[in-house]
Amino acid sequence: MDQIVINDSSHLKGQVKIEGSKNAVLPILAATILASNDQSVITNVPLLSDFYIMKSVLESLNLKTQLNESKNEIVVDATGELTHEAPFELVTKMRASIVVMGPLVARTGYAKISLPGGCAIGERPIDLHLKGLEKLGVKIEDHGDFIEAFAKNGLIGNNINLDFPSVGATQNILMAATLADGITVISNAAKEPEIIDLINFLNKMGAKIIGKGTSTLTITGVSSLLGVTHNVVQDRIEAGTFMVAGAIGNNDIKILDAIKEHNEPLIDVLIKMGASVSFEEDGIRVKGNYELKSINVETEPYPGFPTDMQSQVTVLQALSDGQSQMKENVFENRFMHMQELNKMGVNFRQEGNTIKINGSTHLKGAEVDATDLRAAASLIIAGLNASGKTVVNNLKYLDRGYFKFHKKLSDLGANIQRISK
Ligand code: EPU
Repeated sequence: MDQIVINDSSHLKGQVKIEGSKNAVLPILAATILASNDQSVITNVPLLSDFYIMKSVLESLNLKTQLNESKNEIVVDATGELTHEAPFELVTKMRASIVVMGPLVARTGYAKISLPGGCAIGERPIDLHLKGLEKLGVKIEDHGDFIEAFAKNGLIGNNINLDFPSVGATQNILMAATLADGITVISNAAKEPEIIDLINFLNKMGAKIIGKGTSTLTITGVSSLLGVTHNVVQDRIEAGTFMVAGAIGNNDIKILDAIKEHNEPLIDVLIKMGASVSFEEDGIRVKGNYELKSINVETEPYPGFPTDMQSQVTVLQALSDGQSQMKENVFENRFMHMQELNKMGVNFRQEGNTIKINGSTHLKGAEVDATDLRAAASLIIAGLNASGKTVVNNLKYLDRGYFKFHKKLSDLGANIQRISK
């Protein structure tokens, strides 16, 4: 079992390179299922555990893959006969495997997918995915621990209004609709940059999707799609995590090639808290402040403040000069990291989906357990600013979303090590 060990607060200075986006590459890999002609070549893939799970899901469906790790490139060949079942061991390891359902049923007329369990950050049902697919004519049979989806005679375009702009449901329905007969309109669709990246890939493959980046997506179905080359967009959450690390004390971090438009609400929070953010030709530079100001933040679907940056920003709030609030509107149970931060000296009170965090915390090192991948990052950032030794356990979560996080931090000057116990 690996642990991260951090000793005493460190000054972080330098530049950091960001990987391709985890949350973009997963649906893009699922979309390669649609390419019945020619191979897909996906570049800038992040070598994260979730990426490897999705690769295994594709292989279990009889797609052929060739990964070149040194080039961060994967070639996927979906031109052969596909099988129909995403196995239990993989889907339970990674909930996002569910996004293979839409493309698989659209391409082959049948999909059998194990049900992703609840997960650490909330119940996370898939009702919106299923309702949307049903609207496209897919017959869904729910067997409790797996779902079968049938569309023997193909899919038919329809109007689908999502009750909530779910990222996964938008992706699943969008991919299915590319091969439906006629026009599909998805309203209240998610607008995240990862959705835009998926649409860019699908349109290159020959899909006809308009409205990307807006809440209404119009898809005119086509009869088949082609494998193409695509470079995955940069990971805005990894970039944002380093921005948060840069905002503390006398840190000074340049996040190379960071995309300002993808992180506006976070940048706004950092500036209001007193960090200095500058936009340079080759990236975004964040310089810290020893006297951060308290602030109230709430999470929203994009373009609002992202839930995936919530736990990292709670560390800044704990270091700020007064009481701050964090309201979580996307997931019902994403404050588990607060119990761990409490072991490091953070005082907070939870009222429903809001926490009130007392500022002026003197963080002290402790042994803590990561509870999800963003929690892992926030505990490490807290450890970098704590007196004494911090040990972070449960690194399987960190590895889902951050490539060589300790190495990138140590290159910036942190006193951090990853050890095997
Ligand atoms: N929801 C439903 N029914 C559904 C689908 C979603 O009620 O059918 C609810 C969920 O329970 C949740 C909310 O809607 O409360 C948002 O879920 P959404 O479907 O938008 O999220 P997701 O597709 O499951 C993706 C990211 C998450 C990110 C969220 C929100 C991937 C692989 N995951 O999840 O990323 O937090 O969107 O932006 O893209 C992370 O990277 O740390 C992470 C958890």
